[in-house]
Amino acid sequence: MTAYEKLINRLKKEQHTWLITGVAGFIGSNLLEMLLKLDQQVVGLDNFSTGYKRNLDEVKTLTTQDQWNRFKFIEGDIRNLSVCHKACEGVEYVLHEAALGSVPRSIEDPITNNEVNISGFLNILVASRDAKVKRFVYAASSSTYGDNTDLPKVEEKIGSPLSPYAVTKYINELYAEVFGSTYGIETIGLRYFNVFGPRQDPNGAYAAVIPKWIASMMKDEYIYINGDGETSRDFCFIANVQQANLLAAFSTNLQKFSEVYNVALGNRTTLNQLYQEISLNLKLKQNKLIYRDFRTGDVRHSQASIRKIQEDMQYVPSHNISQGLKESIEWYQKKLLID
Ligand SMILES: NC(=O)c1ccc[n+]([C@@H]2O[C@H](COP(=O)([O-])OP(=O)(O)OC[C@H]3O[C@@H](n4cnc5c(N)ncnc54)[C@H](O)[C@@H]3O)[C@@H](O)[C@H]2O)c1
Repeated sequence: MTAYEKLINRLKKEQHTWLITGVAGFIGSNLLEMLLKLDQQVVGLDNFSTGYKRNLDEVKTLTTQDQWNRFKFIEGDIRNLSVCHKACEGVEYVLHEAALGSVPRSIEDPITNNEVNISGFLNILVASRDAKVKRFVYAASSSTYGDNTDLPKVEEKIGSPLSPYAVTKYINELYAEVFGSTYGIETIGLRYFNVFGPRQDPNGAYAAVIPKWIASMMKDEYIYINGDGETSRDFCFIANVQQANLLAAFSTNLQKFSEVYNVALGNRTTLNQLYQEISLNLKLKQNKLIYRDFRTGDVRHSQASIRKIQEDMQYVPSHNISQGLKESIEWYQKKLLID
């Protein structure tokens, strides 16, 4: 039995109180689904800036009435410290997902990006410290590797940030570390690498590549690739991220108060391979691909070393990219989110 399976069995018998910030978003709503299905008590906080009520409605349909009754939703903003204090009342474990994602969005509006991702983060961290939570697990990011071109990426070797978004995610790590050494709060940052899966928003200017492509290819539209398509990423299915969050909340293997871990598959997939895989899944007969110029600032290759999280927490990814894409495509087809 894996460490994750053991933890799942344990949690079926133990009830804890959790706070998920960004609960109406892609990752947050998937964490909510996992915890409610384990009969946990969950407080969720979101201001619906990039998340949706429909994500919460879907989780409601996937859980029993009893499970859903264990969920308390607070509509509010992490930029408001008193809202954060209220959300943390009685909470044992925090999963902090609320942030403004997307590199281009941060380039468009660095001020709001800074307010939400840094000041908002600090508010939740302060409120978690004051509530004496057992552990603060937060969404860090592979963007922290910046201009470091080493492959695979190992936690202790980062580069200079390439965007305002990357700055904010790195500052989160610095704050978490200082709060560990100063106040003794235990924090774990999970550096997610290109997460994908059900409920990820396919629409809008800042949509991620996988949901955007699936949606466009379902509509038989052309796909634009920046560069030659040999750019690669370590795409990570949401089930692996759910596992990492649960393991992080209960890990007893911390060397110090604050740690960061890569959360990924530990593999690289090129955009050309990704296109072929989605195309095969959707049984498309004709390639509708247009190559255009490389986008400045885009990292050429990204691949995580997942050794640290494997060794410290016995993390074993349950889904590779093909399994993840299959489940995601089934969800998008069923949901008909696409107009
Ligand atoms: N999806 C990825 O590939 C990826 C990769 C690396 C890191 N991350 C990080 O993971 C976290 C979750 O990302 P996601 O993909 O689920 O994005 P998402 O946009 O779907 O979810 C973010 C949620 O936070 C909420 N939110 C934003 N600002 C808020 C505020 N001021 N107050 C309260 N709620 C607020 C949004 O409404 C949304 O529901 C983010 O911190 C993101 O930076 C994601």
